[in-house]
Amino acid sequence: MNSATPRRPLLAANWKMYKGPQSTAAFVERFAPLYSRHPDRTVLFFPPAISLQAFLDARGDRTDLEVGIQDVHTAREGAHTGAISAAMAAEAGVAWGLAGHSERRREFNDDDRAVSLKLCRLLEAGLRPVLCVGETLEERRGGRLEAVLTRQLEAVLDHVDEGASVEWADRVLAYEPVWAIGTGETATPSDAAEAHGLIRSVLARRVGAAGALAATILYGGSVKPENIRELLTADGVDGVLVGGASLDPDSFAVICEGGMDR
Ligand code: PGA
Repeated sequence: MNSATPRRPLLAANWKMYKGPQSTAAFVERFAPLYSRHPDRTVLFFPPAISLQAFLDARGDRTDLEVGIQDVHTAREGAHTGAISAAMAAEAGVAWGLAGHSERRREFNDDDRAVSLKLCRLLEAGLRPVLCVGETLEERRGGRLEAVLTRQLEAVLDHVDEGASVEWADRVLAYEPVWAIGTGETATPSDAAEAHGLIRSVLARRVGAAGALAATILYGGSVKPENIRELLTADGVDGVLVGGASLDPDSFAVICEGGMDR
């Protein structure tokens, strides 16, 4: 998030399966006065679907606290008990959607094709996707970092090129090394810079240098108030996607201030 980057910094909270409607409202009430609106950055929350309305109600006129859905179905609509479509999320008033989070890939068998379909559904519904990519420890140790990131990214780019009726012009990605998610292990700024550089070079091959330069790439994996400042100085890191530390309003407010003491 250094001032040299042409991209707008983005600080995002992924609440996963935490916080029902009441605790969501309580969070927003505490967080809103701690984090004053900064026009130079985007602050975004992914609450559980059941708490989206509570978030929207609680934020009131603080529309700078943006909201997204954690997951959508690959289909536009249909007999899929328990599932939520991108169009429904848009109708509910959210503006963003996650696709490809490693927990979805691992626990719900979202493969590259499913991730691509979800990304297309988000685009069709007018939502802004955040595409997550990242390698496991085994893949990293096996020297497959570049291959894995390339495969995950190209699968989506191929599909979007072929199939989507809407272009993915405004690319937002998150590099989330699986070994750093929820483990307390954080990538070093140089690990993050290397991976972000790889992602940007895959993008450059596919969409050209200008498109790659314009893409926003977040880092995710055990981000906390103690390491935010250092991570945001890493080359090519435009913001963060935060799990555990975003559940506490005080911690996430420090993160949104860029690690500055309030
Ligand atoms: P974590 O999760 O910050 O708890 O490691 C990050 C994520 O999964 O997006």
